[in-house]
Amino acid sequence: MKKIVVTGGAGYIGSHAVKLLLEKGFEVIVFDNLSRGYSDAVDVLKSYGKLGFVKGDMRNPDDIEALLNDRSIDAVMHFAALCLVNESMEQPELYFHNNTIGTYNLLEAMRKNDLKKLIFSSTCAVYGESQYLPVDELHPVQPMNPYGESKLLSEKMIRWYGDIHGFSYAILRYFNVCGASSDGCIGDSKRPSQLLMQNAVRGAMNIEPFYLTCPQVDTPDGTPVRDYIDVEDLVNAHAAALQYLDAGGLSDIFNLGNGTGYSVRQIVSKVGEVCGATIPMVKGETRKGEYASIYAQPEKANITLNWKTEKDLESSIRSLQKWYEGHPQGFAR
Ligand SMILES: NC(=O)c1ccc[n+]([C@@H]2O[C@H](COP(=O)([O-])OP(=O)(O)OC[C@H]3O[C@@H](n4cnc5c(N)ncnc54)[C@H](O)[C@@H]3O)[C@@H](O)[C@H]2O)c1
Repeated sequence: MKKIVVTGGAGYIGSHAVKLLLEKGFEVIVFDNLSRGYSDAVDVLKSYGKLGFVKGDMRNPDDIEALLNDRSIDAVMHFAALCLVNESMEQPELYFHNNTIGTYNLLEAMRKNDLKKLIFSSTCAVYGESQYLPVDELHPVQPMNPYGESKLLSEKMIRWYGDIHGFSYAILRYFNVCGASSDGCIGDSKRPSQLLMQNAVRGAMNIEPFYLTCPQVDTPDGTPVRDYIDVEDLVNAHAAALQYLDAGGLSDIFNLGNGTGYSVRQIVSKVGEVCGATIPMVKGETRKGEYASIYAQPEKANITLNWKTEKDLESSIRSLQKWYEGHPQGFAR
């Protein structure tokens, strides 16, 4: 049984990756400081397979070195990060420390323990404002916020460790992640979520009011256009990337998106339609560090990783309804 370390495995996306890995028969060790994650998610997932949990912090090299001092680990999936654009515009130091130095600590612990297979959660925020659409992996990178910059710096370190120390890696640049587990057992527990579709569904279900927090931008309806990818499709790409690296595939960067852009207003109206509710558009405090439009050219991942998205907006919205019906306030801890 192959053993995979999942950093940030108690968080939203990481927990979905853990579930998939367990379902595929891997042994999984979650490493998380629970600063933004939920131990309840790990507890729920224990019934899916062989799962261990280590509470530790990416900022502490000793924590991560102790974890990786285990010859039976096959690969690391590195999700642990802070990922709020707005917060990064106010406290950039948190982002460079947690995300960039955290990734450096991981790379060093991997190098010292001769562990050389890494799947890294990056983001379309590395591109900044798009110069052409759809955005492929050759698009210039010019982050417009410290969050994107912290991830770009991490990518650069990973590429140098790959070239010089022979690491094999897949850098996965996610677009906007939405949805929850189809069986309703795990989902996004943040209150409010920082993610649009989650908040719109919570608004439609009267769990909490929905606030429009996007800036006015230069798009047909004046709200930002983004590419929404379902979390189950997203984690399938991680399994595909692992298989690709195991088969000797070359280290590379892949966009993970659907290839279609939807404005904030289009998403809110689709959520209202699927949930049969009218969602009042109350204006909240405008987020900083956002830009007008971005959506992916996902062809490279489609072809090289032999992966494609399967879920449409409606199935993501329905999975969120199911999650919030069972867990209106998400996990408690
Ligand atoms: N959610 C999105 O739409 C999106 C888009 C692009 C990229 N990403 C990336 O995907 C990854 C997961 O995002 P998410 O939405 O699941 O976020 P999340 O906040 O739900 O999960 C992140 C997890 O990492 C843990 N963590 C943070 N800092 C840590 C540290 N120093 N040590 C140990 N654990 C730590 C948190 O406790 C949390 O459990 C992140 O790397 C993020 O940058 C997310």
